[in-house]
Amino acid sequence: MFDKELIEKIRARFPRAEKDFNGNIRAFFDNGTGTLVLKQAARAEHDARINCSANIGGVFDESKQAMKVILEGRQAVADFLNAPSPETIISGESATSLVFNISYALGKEFTGRENVVATDYEHYTNVSPWEELKNQGKIKEVRYARVNMEDGTIDLNHLEGLIDENTKVVTISAASNFLGTKSPLEKIGKMAQKVGSYYFIDAVHQIVHGEIDVQKLDCDFLVFSAYKIFSSHGSFLYGKKEHLKTLKPFKVKTAPTTAPGKYEWGTRNQAFFAAFSAVIDHLEWIGKEVQHLYDRKFSESKGRQRLLKIAMDAIQQNEMELSEAVLKGSEDVPGLLDMPRVTVYGLTDIQRLKERVPTFSFDVEGISGEEVAKRLWDEGKVAARSGHFYSLAQDLHKKQTVVRISLVQYNTLEEVRGFLKSLKAICESR
Ligand SMILES: Cc1ncc(COP(=O)(O)O)c(C=O)c1O
Repeated sequence: MFDKELIEKIRARFPRAEKDFNGNIRAFFDNGTGTLVLKQAARAEHDARINCSANIGGVFDESKQAMKVILEGRQAVADFLNAPSPETIISGESATSLVFNISYALGKEFTGRENVVATDYEHYTNVSPWEELKNQGKIKEVRYARVNMEDGTIDLNHLEGLIDENTKVVTISAASNFLGTKSPLEKIGKMAQKVGSYYFIDAVHQIVHGEIDVQKLDCDFLVFSAYKIFSSHGSFLYGKKEHLKTLKPFKVKTAPTTAPGKYEWGTRNQAFFAAFSAVIDHLEWIGKEVQHLYDRKFSESKGRQRLLKIAMDAIQQNEMELSEAVLKGSEDVPGLLDMPRVTVYGLTDIQRLKERVPTFSFDVEGISGEEVAKRLWDEGKVAARSGHFYSLAQDLHKKQTVVRISLVQYNTLEEVRGFLKSLKAICESR
């Protein structure tokens, strides 16, 4: 989907796409843990620190500029998610802190009889806040929909059966950070709406891989983290206007009484917003680069929003090719599917790559995950990671240590080939 020229142009925008700070030429495949920074985002962050480090609320230029940068950042997130207004965008320290923030606010509404429905492949960020409500007696239980480990998908019948008139929150990862599976978000949203439940989406793992449209999904809340999409540490949460108005989050008395300030704990960092605006400008640029391939597609959206949708669609198409290469390999090297001693977790059907993101967790029989990751680095200069990725599914299936690779827009087919060759050498070594 991306031609060679475009991939080169994209890679040129990431100062560490090719080499790390030591000058090592390496393939960076640890994107699920945190992506590399976009040059323009780092620059915008730097410039905001220098030019408008004053706090907002003052009458002087630096302070006004800081406010402007924050507003532009919120608008950029709203454009990206197709949220109705920048006031529906809350920022926070991390996705974890934002989920706790909202869960505590929702807990104030509950009586102890309610349940929350999640899935077996949630990240613990989308488990512990709801379990905490149970521990405090605010809800009766958290229910988890089974995941079919054969293909890594949610058992939708089981999920539907768990939802009843006492379900007040249905909360789902848009994509599993362990299995790489994408959740059927629209279908699940309809199940939640049938019983009048809140619909909460953890889009932290999905955000860099494809389109998210909160109005199309009709979700009540959606959270994602900027460091998973080329920016700095910190996160954003979208909330429906009416909920943000009525919920009562924990807040200090003098903080604003309206969203977004009502939900934001402490003083904002304008440099964080500046960096994220630059990421959205970058995605818009990709949209412009590929829009000639799109004819009238996405014409219901206009201007920047259409370009962002085009960009995310093109990114998804491109990543499907990377996924296929990871699984199938090429003439000179087998893919993960045919690699001796390798077990891949999650969906491996080449016909169904649309249902997954290019995140692959696997084991090599007889070699620990730590050793595989170390040798991939030492012998192949592939930055992969082994360990526990805070996924509930890993505990349920007793996979405490797996190796995970996760690819994004700056990764190439050559890098995939190099990774497979190194892995093959490791698999054949004893
Ligand atoms: C699916 C998912 N949800 C939540 C998180 C936690 O995000 P944060 O570090 O911003 O709290 C992660 C981090 O890896 C994740 O992959």
